[in-house]
Amino acid sequence: MKNIEMDITGVLSKTIGEQGIDEKDLYETAMRLDGFKKDVYRSPYPFMDFAVLKSHIPEIKDITESLKRFEIKNLVILGIGGSSLGTETIFHALLHPFHNLESIHQDKRPRYFILDNIDPNKINKVAEIIERDRKKTLLVVISKSGETPETMSQFMLFKDILKSTKNYRQRIIVITDSKKGMLREIVKKEGYPSLPVPEGIGGRFSVLTPVGLFPSSIMGIDIEDMVKGAEDMSSYIKKTPHKKNMAVILAAILYLMDRYGKKMHVMMPYCDRLSAFSDWFRQLEAESLGKAGSGPTPIKSIGVTDQHSQLQLYIDGPKDKCIIFLYHGGEKRQIPDSISYINDLEYLAGKDMGELFYAEFLGTRRSLIEAKTPNLTINVNEINEYSLGALFFLYEMVIAMMGHLYNINAFDQPGVELGKIYTKAVMGKKGLEKQKKTIEKDLTKKRYQIGF
Ligand code: PA5
Repeated sequence: MKNIEMDITGVLSKTIGEQGIDEKDLYETAMRLDGFKKDVYRSPYPFMDFAVLKSHIPEIKDITESLKRFEIKNLVILGIGGSSLGTETIFHALLHPFHNLESIHQDKRPRYFILDNIDPNKINKVAEIIERDRKKTLLVVISKSGETPETMSQFMLFKDILKSTKNYRQRIIVITDSKKGMLREIVKKEGYPSLPVPEGIGGRFSVLTPVGLFPSSIMGIDIEDMVKGAEDMSSYIKKTPHKKNMAVILAAILYLMDRYGKKMHVMMPYCDRLSAFSDWFRQLEAESLGKAGSGPTPIKSIGVTDQHSQLQLYIDGPKDKCIIFLYHGGEKRQIPDSISYINDLEYLAGKDMGELFYAEFLGTRRSLIEAKTPNLTINVNEINEYSLGALFFLYEMVIAMMGHLYNINAFDQPGVELGKIYTKAVMGKKGLEKQKKTIEKDLTKKRYQIGF
C-alpha cells in the first residue's frame, strides 16, 4: 500500500456532470506546470533546499540534548501564523490527544503550551502555570521577522517571569532570521541559544526548518524521518509524469475549481489527528494565494463532526465549494453489544468504531456526489513523522504551483504586513505617526453602530 494516495473521481465531469472538471481541461492545466516544475527543480525555492533544511538538524539535536539537564516540565512556544501552525499540526498528529494530562502521570516529555494569540485571558492562565515551576520551563520564541508585536510582547512578559531563576538564559531559545530583526539583536545582546529561519523561507513554508523541527525535537519526535518524508515526496514530484503526479494534479484541480466558480476549498479530515493540518493548510492557501483580487477561500471542516453542522450547506447550498477529504482509518475499537434489547441497534453491535467512521465517510462522499458537489480524497494510510513530512511538502509544492497558475507571488503577504504596521502605529511606535493619525481619524468619524 502506498503512503499517500489521491482519488479524484469525485471532481471529474464524468462523475458529477457539468459541476465537475473535464479531463482534457485538467491535463492541459497540468501540462502548463511542466515547465514550471523543471525550472523550480533546476533552481529550487529555499523551502525545497534539503541540503539547507538538513544542515540544521545536528544543532537542533545538540540544543535538545543540552536542555535535558533542566528536566523541562513546561514547553512554552511563542509565535503566530507560520511560526506556530506547523508545530501545532505536528503535535496534534503525533502526540497523545490529551498529552498535557497524560504527561503529568506517565510521559517524561514536557507539557506544552503554544501561544498563538495574545488574548490576556489565556496568557494569564499559562503564566499562572509557569509561575509555579519557573525553573523547569523552556521558552521557545519564534519569529522570522523578529519584529511581530504579538510575539515580542509575549516574549517580554515571559522573560520577565523566568528572569529571576538561575540559568534562565539557557532556557530561552530564539528562532529567527540569522541576520535581521530585533530578535536577532536581542540574541546578540543577551546571549540566548538560537537557531535560524533559513534565508528566503517565510513563516508558512517554514515547518521543516528549525521553526517546526526544534519544538518537535524537544518532544522526542523523529525530525530526521519527517524531513526524509518531505525529501522523498520532493523526488516523487520531480520524477513523476504530470498525469500521475499528485502535486501537479492537485494544483491543477484546485486552480480549476476556482475558475469553475468553486471558490470555497473545504478541507475535511476524517481523522482528528489531522484536524490541525487543515489550520495549517488554511493559512498556506489563504496567505499565499489571496492576492490581486483573487484567490480561493480555504475552509476547515472535520469529519464526522461537521456532518452534523456543515454538510447540509455543502450538499444543498450554493455550488461554490469543493471538498478535499483527508482520510485515515486509524485505530480499532469494538462497539460492544451492551444494549441488546433494542433491535434497531443490531447493525452497530459487535462492529468496529473504525468501520462506522469509514461508513460515515463513504456515506458523506456518496451524498456529495449525488448532489454534484466536487470532492476529492487524499488517503493518508499511516500517520507518522515520515508521512507528515511528505504531506507538508506536497501541499507546499501545490501552493507554489498554484501561485504559478495564478501568476502571483505566493511567497509574500503584503496585507498581513500592512495590519502589523497599523498595530504598531496605534501602540505609538516612532516613525508611524502618519498611520496613527489615519486610525485616529477613523475613530472620530461617525460610526454605524447598533446594540442591545
Ligand atoms: O507566513 C507568514 O509569513 C506569516 O503568517 C508569519 O508567519 C506571521 O505573520 C508571523 O510572522 P513572524 O514569523 O515574522 O513573527
